[in-house]
Amino acid sequence: MDYKKEIVFLNGQYIGREKAWISPDDRGFVFSDGVYEVLSSYNGKVFEAWRHIQRLDGSLSGLNISGFDPADILEISERLIDANNLASLDSIIYIQVTRGAAPRSHAVDQAVMTPTVYACVKRFLRPLRKQKEGVGVILLDDERWARCNIKSVSLLPNILAKQKAADSGHEEAVLVRDGVITEGSASSFAAVFSGTLTTHPESNRILGSITRSVVIDLCKSAGIEVEERPIKKEELAYAEEMMIMSTTKEILPVTAYDSVIVSDGRPGKVTMRLQALLNDYIDDNCSKKA
Ligand code: PDD
Repeated sequence: MDYKKEIVFLNGQYIGREKAWISPDDRGFVFSDGVYEVLSSYNGKVFEAWRHIQRLDGSLSGLNISGFDPADILEISERLIDANNLASLDSIIYIQVTRGAAPRSHAVDQAVMTPTVYACVKRFLRPLRKQKEGVGVILLDDERWARCNIKSVSLLPNILAKQKAADSGHEEAVLVRDGVITEGSASSFAAVFSGTLTTHPESNRILGSITRSVVIDLCKSAGIEVEERPIKKEELAYAEEMMIMSTTKEILPVTAYDSVIVSDGRPGKVTMRLQALLNDYIDDNCSKKA
């Protein structure tokens, strides 16, 4: 996409990126006081919009940010896809809602705040090679706050962990809190034990990942056992398979963690089956004709 011709959404308007300016008093800039969503679209069709709307609703109410209807993200996404000539391609939509701009003060009168809403879209090149070959991860301490279920733009522990992973040649940092695997720095995590997909239960310790929810639903309809329970770090030694999941990664097999090879070092059967089921589900819901 030609960056100079890119159309973005800012506070109700679709405008050229070079015209999109926000106040230096914006609380998103000053305090990270905001939330976001990352959605995908396939063939121009937004994937599982209702799940993202529900999650954004939860994030906004979790931070008591009002004045934006989360249901609007579907129309914003669709209009951005069209405006940027991505209707026949796959794309990733980023939407951020902050509490708005006000002179710096930790507490504000919520009644006078107008949220700042920004959204943009870029072409999504699905990571097909990594999906086929698998990736390596490192384990790091989970240093995040106690409300990880809120998709806050305040991502310092996440980006520091991801940077450590990237600097050491790994795809992702998988986080460990109190001896338990929570999730990746920007993805959810699952392991397979005796054929059962096992993943941390939804709680304030993980983000309610859309991909993870879709995968759990796909397991249930395909007869793959699912167990939502904390996985102890030591248990990883016995895992048959591991995977990380997100909107931008879909499902990536994890073939090594901290230089320990998982099983035979190749993507596992359950992981590959889930990738196929997810592809079919995407085709069914977002085909050119759908
Ligand atoms: N991140 N956990 C964390 C901490 C995440 O940041 C993400 C996604 C996920 C996966 O959620 P989903 O399946 O809804 O994408 C789990 C996005 C992609 C990001 O921050 O760019």
